[in-house]
Amino acid sequence: MKYFVITGHKASTSGDFKLDDISGGAGRLDIMCRCINSGFFLSHDLRKDVQVYLVLEGGNDAPKTVRFSGEDIRYLNPDERSTSSLIRNALLKKVSIDEEVKSSPGVYVSRMSFEKVINKLSEIGSFVYLKEDGEDCRAYEFPENPVFVLGDNRDLTDEEENILLEKNPEKISIGPRSLHADHCIIIVHNEMDRRCS
Ligand SMILES: C[S@@+](CC[C@H](N)C(=O)[O-])C[C@H]1O[C@@H](n2cnc3c(N)ncnc32)[C@H](O)[C@@H]1O
Repeated sequence: MKYFVITGHKASTSGDFKLDDISGGAGRLDIMCRCINSGFFLSHDLRKDVQVYLVLEGGNDAPKTVRFSGEDIRYLNPDERSTSSLIRNALLKKVSIDEEVKSSPGVYVSRMSFEKVINKLSEIGSFVYLKEDGEDCRAYEFPENPVFVLGDNRDLTDEEENILLEKNPEKISIGPRSLHADHCIIIVHNEMDRRCS
């Protein structure tokens, strides 16, 4: 399994946004939607061995985490509008602390913070921090069950970075330029695909 954790620093947690306003009022939820697209879509297929954790940190009901699971995902389409609708439906679910609620097949919502997500995944996989100044991924041997962590349109905050660094992640760069988060996900998949083919 491959895991991706993306921090949506301003992304809405209340679900009261308009689907026409995901890049404005919903706090750059469009970035989260594109990360879902990059995380799962192949041409005419979906990657089933992927889980994406969107850690949403905006608004009064923060934090919330929406988890997409490739094993059982349904109703996922490549356009941002329908993905934001799946996220909004998840955010409208009643969810109490310490539970994860299924919103639709393959989409789950919880009140997990970034720290809780990292602690949970530390029992499952090996952290790989995507960072411009990391080791070049071309020469990198990916671990089993990698957990890739990346920022949205901003890097991890100092607090988030410290939480991650406590887990001793490997730090990799996927190229010499700073890229959009969703583009980083595509390149990581491509690098791993090349090693498997
Ligand atoms: C749009 S970037 C964040 C802002 C960016 N660091 C800047 O200074 O403009 C989103 C995230 O993608 C990842 N990222 C972007 N370019 C990368 C690269 N060349 N290598 C590894 N990770 C990268 C980092 O995790 C970063 O936080």
